[in-house]
Amino acid sequence: MTEIFKKEIKEGLEASPKTLPSKYFYDKTGDALFVEIMNLPEYYLTRSELDIFKNKTQQLIDSFNLKTDTYFELIELGAGDGLKTKELLKELDAQNFKFDFFPIDISKNALDLLEKDLKKEIPNLSVKTQQGDYFEILHSLKKSKNPKIVLFLGSNIGNMTDVQASKFIYNLSENLQEDDKLLLGVDLIKPKEIVLPAYNDSKGITAKFNLNLLHRINRELRGNFNLNNFKHLPEYTDKEGIAKSFIISTTNQTVEIKAINKSFNFSEGEKIHTEISRKYNNIIIQEIISNTNFIIDTKIMDSKKYFADYIFTRTSKFKH
Ligand code: AVI
Repeated sequence: MTEIFKKEIKEGLEASPKTLPSKYFYDKTGDALFVEIMNLPEYYLTRSELDIFKNKTQQLIDSFNLKTDTYFELIELGAGDGLKTKELLKELDAQNFKFDFFPIDISKNALDLLEKDLKKEIPNLSVKTQQGDYFEILHSLKKSKNPKIVLFLGSNIGNMTDVQASKFIYNLSENLQEDDKLLLGVDLIKPKEIVLPAYNDSKGITAKFNLNLLHRINRELRGNFNLNNFKHLPEYTDKEGIAKSFIISTTNQTVEIKAINKSFNFSEGEKIHTEISRKYNNIIIQEIISNTNFIIDTKIMDSKKYFADYIFTRTSKFKH
């Protein structure tokens, strides 16, 4: 891990304009800050998708097109605390559907906590936690030939470029069979007045989350970023529909990162691009899945139409 981390930090800071990968936000501090973000009044994404899972549960279930006596596998990529999924699980359980729940996550700790919580809240539920890489696990589950429903929630796909998203969804489709479903949760394009505060909250939690990346480099790669000389800067235009996070240098400065034997110069006002959070509409979604073996089946939105859960069906056509 450290070697790849070093390599990607070096490459990102040598690039012009400078970049740092958002996947490195999520160390212990970053995970805790992201939980705080999800509870912020400005961060509408989690609440909006929870609204769908709480109030449109039956529509979600209907879109799966399954009979109560057909065994299926419900697989969640990056399950986290399962807040939204629990609403669906409770209803599937109440309606006597026959299924196993396979939460997949990188974090063993998150999976253990989720399993414990689910045992308490839905004692009947069969939970088969899977720790590791999404595609390796999906590949191993493919052998079973049981119908599968895959959940990828929270607009996590939005942290990928459209090209990466399309490849990711294509790879998912390759690990599924005809008529299996993918439930993809995405944030929708909406005015700047709503989106920008979600990435620039009044308590400064998102700023801490973004700047934690520099802390992490200081801690793990013996860097000497002075956090007082960098600021969080989010940007968004509804025309493009992509929220972008930057870290901006507030002065001319040089930063040394000992573990990679290099110093980097920053000029006053220079930006480091750290994250994209893509927002979507039907055209963009259609474009992204056009090179995959999925078709759009259903789209379910929250009451404010801020967020959508798209249900895709795996078709038999083979394109690649
Ligand atoms: C995880 N991901 C969907 C979040 C988002 O909205 O892009 C990460 C995040 N970045 C800043 N705030 C939240």
